[in-house]
Amino acid sequence: MTCTASAPGKAILFGEHFVVHGVRAILGAINRRVVVTSSIMDEPVICIRSSLGNCRHGMDEPVRDPRLRPVDYLAKRTTSASPHVEGLCIDIHSEIPAGVGLGSSSATCVATAASLSGLSGMYNKDAICSMAIDAERTIFEDTSGADCTACTYGGLIQYGRDSGFERVPLRGDLELVISDSGVTHSTDTLVRRVAVFADEHPDAFGSMCRRESALINSVLQCLRENDLDSLGDAMRENQTYLCRLGISNDTLDEMITISDSICRGSKITGAGGGGCIIAVARGPANDAARLLGEKGLDSFAVRIDRAGLKTDIPHISP
Ligand code: MEV
Repeated sequence: MTCTASAPGKAILFGEHFVVHGVRAILGAINRRVVVTSSIMDEPVICIRSSLGNCRHGMDEPVRDPRLRPVDYLAKRTTSASPHVEGLCIDIHSEIPAGVGLGSSSATCVATAASLSGLSGMYNKDAICSMAIDAERTIFEDTSGADCTACTYGGLIQYGRDSGFERVPLRGDLELVISDSGVTHSTDTLVRRVAVFADEHPDAFGSMCRRESALINSVLQCLRENDLDSLGDAMRENQTYLCRLGISNDTLDEMITISDSICRGSKITGAGGGGCIIAVARGPANDAARLLGEKGLDSFAVRIDRAGLKTDIPHISP
């Protein structure tokens, strides 16, 4: 028996890092997916095949490659909850570059949780999202849960650690331009770096959180009015806060300068320290990506994916 599920990656438009400290973020699922197929095996082993690496081990053995820990966690959780499942084989195919802030890890957790749930005919998006967040915590303990939520429910959302998520209505398609520095980062390390900043500068950090919150309220208004110029300006402003938090570097600053010269506004998306920047183009996002490519940036256009998680099992979604 097999079950296939797929989940989109994500891009954070506003509020990364601040969301870990209770501020809302605005983020969207993007039209690049991870597809996961899970099969039941008749021997007690866990087998994972992915572009990050392959492994095959017994139920009581830990997984060696830490990048495969979330998938191993989900597999073991499934076998211990389902006595009829001896072992599992999980195949992962990703269109999302890993470790650059586009949600490849969260999309993998969501699609894996869904495909494993599907083996027992279950499909409950809230339960899948919560399993995926638990899995992500095996590599990044203090995740806000924003990324897995966007990858599960799709569309553009605002998300708060305490308030959960709410859809942000979109007038038409929102296209964005992503430029990839090609430098992978550790979200966990960068989130810890910001926590140190928050501890050492509580007043400055508190005031930045309040400014980020106000910025997010104004961005919600820009999105309602499809005011792309103001959206670009808000990205430029948000980038100054991210620089202050210490998650930018020379490479990213240089990329932002190039991107700002062509687009309405740009900023880091995700944890920073490497990874990607995001921009609001002046015209079609594909044209901006081509112009940025001519200036040496590895750029591509993305659209907001409205579907979120998909599976091949018949279900009534909640
Ligand atoms: C990482 O994509 C986003 C962060 O805000 C961490 C989190 O929200 O869990 C840096």
